[in-house]
Amino acid sequence: MTELAPAPARLTLDPAFRVAPVSRRTFGAFVEHLGRCVYTGIFEPGHRGADADGLRTDVIELVRELGVSTVRYPGGNFVSGYRWEDGVGPVRDRPTRLDLAWHSTEPNTFGLDEFVRWARRAGVEPMMAVNLGTRGVQEAVDLLEYCNIPSGTRLSDLRVANGAGQPHGIRMWCLGNEMDGPWQIGHKTAEEYGRLAAETARAMRMVDPGLELVACGSSGSGMPTFGQWEATVLEHAYDLVDYVSCHAYYQEKNGDLAGFLASAVNMENFIDDVVATADHIRAKKRAAKRIKISFDEWNVWYMDRPASQTPQGADWPVAPRLLEDHYHLADAVVVGSLLITLLRHADRVTAASLAQLVNVIAPIMTEPGGAAWRQTTFHPFAQASRYAAGDVLRVEPTSPAYPTAEYGDVPTLHAVATHDAATGSTTVFAVNRSLDTPLSLSIDTRAMGSVRIVEASTLTAQDPYARNTADEPDRVSPRANPSISGDRDGVAVLLAPVSWNVIRLEPASRA
Ligand code: AHR
Repeated sequence: MTELAPAPARLTLDPAFRVAPVSRRTFGAFVEHLGRCVYTGIFEPGHRGADADGLRTDVIELVRELGVSTVRYPGGNFVSGYRWEDGVGPVRDRPTRLDLAWHSTEPNTFGLDEFVRWARRAGVEPMMAVNLGTRGVQEAVDLLEYCNIPSGTRLSDLRVANGAGQPHGIRMWCLGNEMDGPWQIGHKTAEEYGRLAAETARAMRMVDPGLELVACGSSGSGMPTFGQWEATVLEHAYDLVDYVSCHAYYQEKNGDLAGFLASAVNMENFIDDVVATADHIRAKKRAAKRIKISFDEWNVWYMDRPASQTPQGADWPVAPRLLEDHYHLADAVVVGSLLITLLRHADRVTAASLAQLVNVIAPIMTEPGGAAWRQTTFHPFAQASRYAAGDVLRVEPTSPAYPTAEYGDVPTLHAVATHDAATGSTTVFAVNRSLDTPLSLSIDTRAMGSVRIVEASTLTAQDPYARNTADEPDRVSPRANPSISGDRDGVAVLLAPVSWNVIRLEPASRA
């Protein structure tokens, strides 16, 4: 692609233009019993980097570097046919089961207690999903008793006997998964699910009123029941839940890279529509509280490709290579743009999970018995998690627009900033969606006082389809952007076409 002359773009930093505090839970991820996410992903006894519990320490190090806050577990579609009891107690006594969701065999050599142990070692908060597909209120309450009651009851004592003396103390719970989807085991109508979610939440709150509960919203804004589903579910469960979930996956379709780079427009609209629906129910109920959004599955996913086709017939493999997408630069730029969107909605989106964490549509890849490495999408997530701090600021970007078939005219610049009043640090996250035009970005910093440039980095490449591989793991990784300069009034920087950018500023007095 021939690069054109730079086009002007602007944004303004003002600490008064505050959206909401940055929620650490925005930087959550997801571990499902699917493909090689658990087996040979986070858990591989016998691997040279595994600890005494079979947990891969090379993966744990990358999870820490990625800056993951919460991890949702154990599914996903998997949870809707899962019996949590299969995964606890002596491994030799655990049953091997068919996993209907992914047409695989589940050996159950890794389960709840192993997951919580892994989460502690990785420094992440576990977020648990209960099975509301084939199971109901009683099994959800049993699981909660096993996890969170210190001791003195049958199930809490069982946990202690299984080696977990301290309660797992899990605060965030998903009431099922994608129950609107006809592919879901135990799929339900909105009425059926709304009643079940409400009754499950009511019983779980009898055990612990302080839990944070997530009701299933739509598994995509393109679902035929979208909107009505959220309204009906919240009619039943509004007072009993804290969050409604959103799920969204994006991919380049029909070679339309320009349209793909604008995917965040869909996410923006999705969030706005769910907020409007939840607030409509709030008004009808004369409720004081506002429902928050847990965007607990989001990513780029090429779901039509062979890598995502489940095994068939008599083939029920253990941990097959499933959903192993190999991401390129443009995918990483879209992931960055989706992160910008989540931050821009920090007033209502206070939890999110990149789906997933390892091997399965994941920022981290592993080889069985081999290395672990970073996909292109690792980098925007790691940088956003590391540098987003304090409050999210509205920055009112202006830039030329470009036409897309799906979303109409879309601005080439997509941006957000965060400002930490405690340290004075400010970070701008910016994506240039253009395929051929660099942006000459002027950042107005007059309202910030005198600032100093700490760092400008960019993730870009000549080829938007450039990938990292096990042999070339750092081909696409953030590099310093030498074009940045500053004066009394602001900062100027060039953003390459198809790029993710991070610009870090701090008060000049700290130099
Ligand atoms: O993340 C992969 C799958 O996508 C999950 O299992 C399911 O919830 C969604 O459809």
